[in-house]
Amino acid sequence: MNKESDTPFFLPLKEFLSGGKKVRPALLLIVHDACGGGGNPSPAAAAIELIHAASLIHDDIIDKSTQRRGEFSFHMKYGFEMSILVADFILSLVLDIASMYEDRRVGEILSRASKLMSVGEMREVQVLEAGTPLSLNEYLEILKFKTAVLFEAATSLGAVIAGRPDISDDLGLYGLYMGMAYQIKDDLLDWGSPGELTSLLKEEGLRELLEEMANSLAAEAIEKLDVLGNTPQKDLLRDLALYSINREE
Ligand code: IPE
Ligand code: MG
Repeated sequence: MNKESDTPFFLPLKEFLSGGKKVRPALLLIVHDACGGGGNPSPAAAAIELIHAASLIHDDIIDKSTQRRGEFSFHMKYGFEMSILVADFILSLVLDIASMYEDRRVGEILSRASKLMSVGEMREVQVLEAGTPLSLNEYLEILKFKTAVLFEAATSLGAVIAGRPDISDDLGLYGLYMGMAYQIKDDLLDWGSPGELTSLLKEEGLRELLEEMANSLAAEAIEKLDVLGNTPQKDLLRDLALYSINREE
């Protein structure tokens, strides 16, 4: 069993990865380009999308969602065993990719994102189980962990791999703010549905406040692009930040 394609995970995973917008790897590759290129960003971009895929597969089980991307969700097609073990397989792929980079920061960034995502997702489970009202700050922290830190990892990796660790924190914040805006927008699209975190936001006026926050987060993300020289890639990154708050799905 030397090749990934010899494993029972290959085809289900390949099919799953053929869907989705690939926003996160796109961000990594565009930031990398905007930083002048160099190094090999493709494996890291794949690792980011693989971590995202594993989180979605498990999220649909946790949320009992039978549909994803207009189709049956992964566990509906392939069962629970495949859904659990494909994530273990993804772990091996991501470790493999991290070990390909001499720069230890790559592994560190991927590890931090995976850790915080699991913590964010678990906290969401716990607050939904408790069912008690959620403060705005608690809500924002969950959303930062479960979604935005992976965006942050993607954009800071783009800079690190391009040999620009000096601006990787700023570009990481671009990703973080954009990821927050992206998830807030996601939540606004199905505001207050039962089983959603937003159903626990009971304070008056929070919906309007979050609409404003999504806009200001996108603006703050765009400000972080000031560390980049003017290139078409920078314009694209600005457009992606705006897309995060203007998309309809
Ligand atoms: C969905 O992410 C889950 C979150 C909002 C965090 P995406 O909107 O990027 O999903 P796909 O990968 O395009 O389906
Ligand atoms: Mg969920």
